[in-house]
Amino acid sequence: MTLLDPNVAATALQDAPADAATFKLAMRHLAGAVSVITTGRGEQRTGFTATSVSSFSMEPPAMIVCLNRSSSSWPVVQQHLGFCINLLAHDQLHVADRFSGRGGATGVARYEGAAWQELVTGALGLSDALTVIDCELDEAIERHSHAILIGRVRAIRTRETAEPLLYWHGAYRHISNLDRVLTSA
Ligand SMILES: Cc1cc2nc3c(=O)[nH]c(=O)nc-3n(C[C@H](O)[C@H](O)[C@H](O)COP(=O)(O)O)c2cc1C
Repeated sequence: MTLLDPNVAATALQDAPADAATFKLAMRHLAGAVSVITTGRGEQRTGFTATSVSSFSMEPPAMIVCLNRSSSSWPVVQQHLGFCINLLAHDQLHVADRFSGRGGATGVARYEGAAWQELVTGALGLSDALTVIDCELDEAIERHSHAILIGRVRAIRTRETAEPLLYWHGAYRHISNLDRVLTSA
């Protein structure tokens, strides 16, 4: 079966136990745009790669991001009281890798290898990201392993012409060729 097999749609859905392993497999079907969330100032700067990003409300403009509270970014978000959502373009896979911790980079070292500009909240926005959305932390709702971060939008920058970096079935992908798995350099 290829991922885009037209016969897949004809397959009947089957009940499965709602345990963690089955849930993890089910979530592989949830295609997501890849963002890098930046937070902190100076030597405290850090951030993480995220797919759990969504617009939340129009009035006022607000976003949500879900953050694992075991992540090194969680105490920094609480102290900085803001974060910046950088929606990645398909040619920014190397930035996604660094901010996911792959390769071992931590904290401010995750910013190396890309160009950044300081925004209204003091967080850094990625030059040439598809869209950069700088947010002030409105509320952090702690539930289970994660915190739901609600961010009030303070500044926006966009780049109109590029395509997004996607994550689906455990791999980074390009929207115009979903069968092609992108790998790191
Ligand atoms: C494609 C992808 C999506 C991710 N999405 C999230 C997310 O939405 N929320 C989250 O807390 N971590 C997410 N992670 C994990 C973080 O990027 C990071 O690995 C984790 O926060 C550990 O960071 P630390 O080394 O700073 O502790 C994702 C990782 C990848 C590769």
